[in-house]
Amino acid sequence: MTPDTIVKGEAGAVQTGCTNLGKVVSVRGSVVDIHFDSHLPPINTLLRAQNGKISIEVLAQMDAHLVRGIALTPTQGLARGVSVEDTGGTLKVPVGKGILSRMFDVFGNAIDRQPPPEDVQWRGIHREPPDLTRRSTKSEVFETGIKVIDVLVPLERGGKAGLFGGAGVGKTVLLTEMIHNMIGHQKGVSLFCGIGERCREGEELYRDMKAAGVLPNMVMVFGQMNEPPGSRFRVGHAALTMAEYFRDEEHKDVLLLIDNIFRFVQAGMEVSGLMGQMPSRLGYQPTMGTELSRLEERIANTDAGAITSIQAVYVPADDLTDPAAVHVFSHLSASIVLSRKRAGEGLYPAVDLLQSSSKMATAGIVGERHYLLAQEIRKTLAQYEDLKDVIAMLGLEQLSPEDRQIVGRARRLERFLTQPFFATEQFSGIPGKLVSLEDSLSGCERILRDEFKDVPESALYMIGGIGEVKKNAPPDKAKTPPTAKVPANPEPAKKGETGKKPLDKAEPGEKTPPKVEPVGKHESPVNAGTPAQPKSQIKKKPEAESAVLAHES
Ligand SMILES: Nc1ncnc2c1ncn2[C@@H]1O[C@H](COP(=O)(O)OP(=O)(O)O)[C@@H](O)[C@H]1O
Ligand SMILES: [Mg+2]
Repeated sequence: MTPDTIVKGEAGAVQTGCTNLGKVVSVRGSVVDIHFDSHLPPINTLLRAQNGKISIEVLAQMDAHLVRGIALTPTQGLARGVSVEDTGGTLKVPVGKGILSRMFDVFGNAIDRQPPPEDVQWRGIHREPPDLTRRSTKSEVFETGIKVIDVLVPLERGGKAGLFGGAGVGKTVLLTEMIHNMIGHQKGVSLFCGIGERCREGEELYRDMKAAGVLPNMVMVFGQMNEPPGSRFRVGHAALTMAEYFRDEEHKDVLLLIDNIFRFVQAGMEVSGLMGQMPSRLGYQPTMGTELSRLEERIANTDAGAITSIQAVYVPADDLTDPAAVHVFSHLSASIVLSRKRAGEGLYPAVDLLQSSSKMATAGIVGERHYLLAQEIRKTLAQYEDLKDVIAMLGLEQLSPEDRQIVGRARRLERFLTQPFFATEQFSGIPGKLVSLEDSLSGCERILRDEFKDVPESALYMIGGIGEVKKNAPPDKAKTPPTAKVPANPEPAKKGETGKKPLDKAEPGEKTPPKVEPVGKHESPVNAGTPAQPKSQIKKKPEAESAVLAHES
């Protein structure tokens, strides 16, 4: 089996190869200069040395006899004078139904310890993006089952979404969750491309997908951080070539997931540096924009099918003005920005509610109700953001009743927009939840209508649909809602509450409510219920939640 397909793989390369041989002139890390006597191999040609053990891609023709290439494999053992074979073609990867449920490296070698795939064709990885005339746009929303995304950053079917964030804010977790939620409903094929991230993550994902039974419609391609820069630089193209096959030949909708596109830019930077090009801003390669566009533009919808892509984008130093992040931004239809601050507060998924945006969030596409609601949510959160300074300096009591209401709503919204993930079930202990768009919308609407103003904030933390609120609410709170709910105008009730506060503070001898007051300074009045919780809450939650509350300022 094995030798058979290896031959197949090489056959594709050898057919046109003839016997154009060159000799290695110099080896500097991954950069190899090769002398050819007669025919100079064109740019992007794949060269092989040492019986195919070492692969080199031509990146530049230096003079009439010299080409400079980047090795896609480690170059150990390569020496001056070693003969190099011109394969006469570019790097090729297998495409076809046979690659489904398999895991590959950049060369199309199976890396799942199974025999090489059968019934495949080999295709060059360098292709042109589809013609403008063949492109199509649909503007259809792609539901993810994740509240915060569906409500505030709706994704586009056939669009490109980016998950931006610094190290460890939850990009991979969010991406994995999306795979989990969408892949089951996805009628087409999913393709996961790991670029320059941890090898362990690839293995874990493979195992998870296998366990979830979605592998039969999935392909994985990895060029992780242990690979040389040349390999990380080309693995995205390899994955796209496979995706394009499913789109163009099988007319399927393809879900393409990339973790992490920044590593592609970074690999390009390494290649460029090794090639001796003058770096541009912040050390990035001068050709970054072009390289990225060549890859991103191939992720397109045509009359044949759509490629929806979700890409994690590492943001160096959490700086969204980093040139790499800025370049990626411009290709996307939705940008989900993850914030370290929210992650620090335990508000997962740590989506920055005000910075994230989607081109789908317009009334024409998501509908008037959803659009207005999203606007209202953003407005409330923005107002809360403005009030934070005042609260930090003077305390919540100094706010007008209207402002206090806004704070209460905003904090409840923030908590409602957290969600337990299937991907984190093992370590959070909370079972994952999938929430329909309708549930998410009505939940936010009801919070904005103040229906939950007497429910402790923590009752909204890490729940699924809004229907789950009551379960979490501590029993003692049941007494307060009737009194607070009855008055038609909520303001007097609030006033009463705050009027009480200083008093309570002065005399801590009183019953239930005063207990909370010392902490209450930075909190909304409704928080009063929180301390009562530990009884009813799961062991883990109170810590997380109290951390959240204490952090607020
Ligand atoms: N939704 C979440 N729920 C709970 N913990 C999370 C969540 N998202 C991220 N984390 C925590 O953050 C850590 C890093 O997340 P990860 O996705 O690997 O970060 P990144 O890919 O952005 O570097 C995880 O190991 C987990 O502890
Ligand atoms: Mg990651």
